[in-house]
Amino acid sequence: MFDPKQFIEESIAELKEKITQTAIIACSGGVDSSVAAAIANRAVGDLLHCVYVDTGFMRKYETDNIEEMLDDIGINLTIVKAGDRYFKALEGVSEPEAKRKIIGGLFIKIFEEEQQKVDAKCLVQGTIAPDWIESGGGVRDTIKSHHNVGGLPEDMTLIVVEPLRDLYKDEVRMVARELGIAVAERQPFPGPGLAVRCLGDLTPERVEVCREACHIVETELEAAAEAGLIEIPWQYFAALLPVKSVGVHGDVRAYGETVVVRAVTSLDGMSARYSPIPHDVLTKISTRITNTVKGAVNRVVYDITHKPPGTIEWE
Ligand code: XMP
Repeated sequence: MFDPKQFIEESIAELKEKITQTAIIACSGGVDSSVAAAIANRAVGDLLHCVYVDTGFMRKYETDNIEEMLDDIGINLTIVKAGDRYFKALEGVSEPEAKRKIIGGLFIKIFEEEQQKVDAKCLVQGTIAPDWIESGGGVRDTIKSHHNVGGLPEDMTLIVVEPLRDLYKDEVRMVARELGIAVAERQPFPGPGLAVRCLGDLTPERVEVCREACHIVETELEAAAEAGLIEIPWQYFAALLPVKSVGVHGDVRAYGETVVVRAVTSLDGMSARYSPIPHDVLTKISTRITNTVKGAVNRVVYDITHKPPGTIEWE
């Protein structure tokens, strides 16, 4: 039987031995990197630098929430506001794979800059067992593994420390609860963030529309679950489509954008079924989206595709 308390104590002792020089960790706000950061922080304190890159594709309030959460557990945090760099790098790019590559590449560049600033010699990663089992296993002592927004460079000769590498997700969540970390029950969020939920031109204005729409879907479905109307889906969000359609605003013809609402049940994201959301709840979501982002969005649709054949995200 897994004992999170014992795991934490043993990991702290182990990390105290392994981390003798400046260390760095990339924190996404997700449960794995937050737990790894919290344990390493307890082990070596200010020897650990935690870097959070705000790409401009975060959800509403996300950066503030993450900052607060990491501050609560006493992490030495650097927030890199990189939205301008990301939008510039992605200007005119809408092909999904090209976008992901640019986003991953820029993340690496920014992370390397931060690593050089503090002259880190050690890299702490929140890798868990399924991550390395799925990527073929094997022993790694220099950096090779993936980050959730892309692979880190192989020529980075840092000593890699992976305190969670033998744990499964449910065990990481138990450790998070034991550490008092508030992220334990978050829904999954893709590494490239809202960039893969904003199809077509990636402009700050369009990403903002997508951010608002996502926030509305999240708050309405959470309220519906709270009221007992639905079971909270495994994942739920909005995406902005590259489709414009004709509508009316007052008495005037409008040519606006389309938002798709997506909510799925799943165990592990490998397959999924769309959630049967009651029409009243969908109506509320639709009205709020078209009222909130007036002028920009005049059509809201609901995605009724399972995975397969669809994927959960649209890109
Ligand atoms: P798809 O869209 O492939 O997604 O059905 C399955 C699950 O993975 C998440 N996802 C990602 N997570 N980095 C991540 O960390 C990514 O690049 C990424 N792309 C998709 C998605 O949100 C879903 O939970």
